[in-house]
Amino acid sequence: MAVLVLVVACCLALGFCICFAMLKWNGIRYGRRKGLPPGTMGWPVFGETTEFLKHGPSFMKKQRARFGSLFKTHILGCPTIVSMDPELNRYILMNEGKGLVPGYPQSMLDILGKCNIAAVHGSAHKHIRGSLLSLIGPLVIKDELLPKIDKFMRSFLSNWNEETIDIQERTNEMALSISFKQIVEKESTSLYETFKPEFDKLLLGTLSLPINIPGTNYHHGFQGRQRIVKMLKQIMEERRASSIAYDDMLDRLLHNEDSKYNLSDEEIIDQIITILYSGYETVSTTSMMAIKYLRDHPKAFQELREEHVAIREKKNPGEAIDWNDYKSMSFTRAVIFETSRLATIVNGVLRKTTEDMVLNGFTIPKGWRIYVYTREINYDPFLYPEPLTFNPWRWLDKNLESHNYCFVFGGGSRLCPGKELGILQISTFLHYFVTSYRWEEAGRNEIHHFPRVEAPKGLHIRISKY
Ligand code: HEM
Repeated sequence: MAVLVLVVACCLALGFCICFAMLKWNGIRYGRRKGLPPGTMGWPVFGETTEFLKHGPSFMKKQRARFGSLFKTHILGCPTIVSMDPELNRYILMNEGKGLVPGYPQSMLDILGKCNIAAVHGSAHKHIRGSLLSLIGPLVIKDELLPKIDKFMRSFLSNWNEETIDIQERTNEMALSISFKQIVEKESTSLYETFKPEFDKLLLGTLSLPINIPGTNYHHGFQGRQRIVKMLKQIMEERRASSIAYDDMLDRLLHNEDSKYNLSDEEIIDQIITILYSGYETVSTTSMMAIKYLRDHPKAFQELREEHVAIREKKNPGEAIDWNDYKSMSFTRAVIFETSRLATIVNGVLRKTTEDMVLNGFTIPKGWRIYVYTREINYDPFLYPEPLTFNPWRWLDKNLESHNYCFVFGGGSRLCPGKELGILQISTFLHYFVTSYRWEEAGRNEIHHFPRVEAPKGLHIRISKY
């Protein structure tokens, strides 16, 4: 009996020692490096990923309380430095040239392509970004994209039945198909049905562990990419063989030979995937959350609706909105900024170091990832008094948008090139939605805020026509 007790005690002690050693392993492994910021590294391989994904914002705040606003951790398979220091975050975003380049996960880079904007830096980044701005920048928006967006939105929102709908599903549909139509106008209707499921796979794959075996999200994502590449190559061949000109982004990319932004076929394909990918979740989630906040805040809703009714009153029924109408939507713009801030549609951005570097007195080793975590700045009471209140009026002071620490659309050389396009799409969506429909929330809808904003079972609203 005594022997049995001894054996059990030894096993327990051994188990405890193994667990303890494993928990300390990452700490010991990375602890040898001199000058790193303080922090904990968690379990081998997994690090602190589970705590990070499960408790997100509270995990970050807890670590900041223990270690300060720059700390080390091990998340999503990599040793990572988290910066929650607004001043340092700004420095990092403004100084890509000093070796602080994008540090997005390998799965994302593999699936979005090696010419994807997040995978390139220096002159290659300038080239790809220049081409992108020539397709979606403010000049093109005003003269070419606005009429198309208006037409799309009018038709998209024209005949919703008076019923309970999942607005998350609809805004997802809106955000993807509007970009798709701008890229391949002619083929869009027939191709979209085959394209969408492959794009959904690609999307999931970018957020997975890069393990390429059948059954994994990464494998499916990769297959999705390959099928999308095949479809795009086929359209490109057909367009080159035809003498017909089309008024869409693909045609502009294909007939750009004389421009300084002429791209190879591989670059064109990755550029198209980038536009579809970057403008998808951001635009759809902001639109969905704006609908939610407007329902919950009748005064803001009333002011927004008045803005749009006033525009409609100056027009004939069915007449399109023009640039001046869009420019007059200042309260709508404020609602979009307040929605992005309060919901924190983007929690932060990822960078990595190209060489050892000193930040805030700590040495960050070459190749380490830095999570520029901007979420907490959105709730800073000095910048946004009563930060947990939905108060669009605060954005009517235009200086707030260009405030040094407003990172809703990123900053520095990577500032979102789709910012104005995204705001225009959401504004047009809101214009036709609030002038056509009344709505109320149906049942209780749960919203998750981390790691991404989503309604896991949908956001159901009952709509009726005005
Ligand atoms: C409400 C809508 C949007 C939000 C909140 C948003 C937010 C952001 C943020 C925070 C970044 C910085 C990423 C970084 O520094 O690594 C970014 C970059 C980017 N965004 Fe947006 N975005 C929106 C809409 C769009 C749209 C509609 C497009 C394109 C059609 C777009 C295309 C891009 C691209 C290509 C980049 C990378 C820029 C670069 O690396 O130079 N975004 N966006």
